[in-house]
Amino acid sequence: MKVICTEKSQVLGTHIARALKTTVVSVSYSRFPDGEHYLVTGETDDEMVIVGSVVDNDSLVQLMLLTDACDRSTNHLVLPYMAYARQDKRFRPGEPVSSRVIARALSMGVSDVTTVNIHDSEVLKSFTVPAQNLSLAAGIGSYIRTLGLKNPLILAPDEGAMNFAENVASAGGWECDHLEKTRLSGVEVKMAPRQLSAKSRSVVIVDDIISTGSTIATAAGMLCQQGAEDVCAACVHGVFTGGAYARLMATGIRDVVCSDTIERSCSRISAAEEIARAIRKH
Ligand code: R5P
Repeated sequence: MKVICTEKSQVLGTHIARALKTTVVSVSYSRFPDGEHYLVTGETDDEMVIVGSVVDNDSLVQLMLLTDACDRSTNHLVLPYMAYARQDKRFRPGEPVSSRVIARALSMGVSDVTTVNIHDSEVLKSFTVPAQNLSLAAGIGSYIRTLGLKNPLILAPDEGAMNFAENVASAGGWECDHLEKTRLSGVEVKMAPRQLSAKSRSVVIVDDIISTGSTIATAAGMLCQQGAEDVCAACVHGVFTGGAYARLMATGIRDVVCSDTIERSCSRISAAEEIARAIRKH
């Protein structure tokens, strides 16, 4: 078994290879003069772990080309982040079910798929091969433990993230609650407090994705008004679109961290061990 990875998942891919005690196959990525992607791989194995987050359209194409380049192997696809997963329904007539399109396309040429904190596990049913979803809640919990916060309050920004937040909180036996979020538009949300007071407490807001940052920024603003001592945020997938990371830090949040499902300089939690554990079970 060897590991191979797309350009934007090369650090995570290498760490997965290390955790699996195997090698990573080198790939040379370039483009034709018209902008089309080109790649050529080193020597592959009969069994390959293909690691590639779909973070944009280019990484999607690279992942499909990479899978085809490994077409003489048994391929386990690891999809740490799957863009388009949030368009998992036809919200309005005429829309595509984008998650289904991507899932079907990426099922071609692979024997199984592993995702990480996918937006909704229903999306797994759209792959045409067996698919499993892993959670980094425990890893985020372990990271929070390293911060040495006194009696932190773990908060989910909405009810949908409560299960995830509970799993994070169980790493330290911390209290956990969720806020009431109403999405007003793609970039605007409204937030209301629930039961537990944040006054004079360290709060860690946890979520699967930070995209525009409006969810976390609104939550953090409200918590600061309530008198929280300090507010941090941790997520699995740090999309940080349109300068979201900097905007969040400007709101006075003490720290914002994410995992390496999308490789960022604030990726302080790694999905590598969790993914390697799951791959070993195949
Ligand atoms: C929503 O269902 C997700 O769990 C996240 O809360 C959401 O994607 C965050 O988006 P944004 O950072 O744009 O508010």
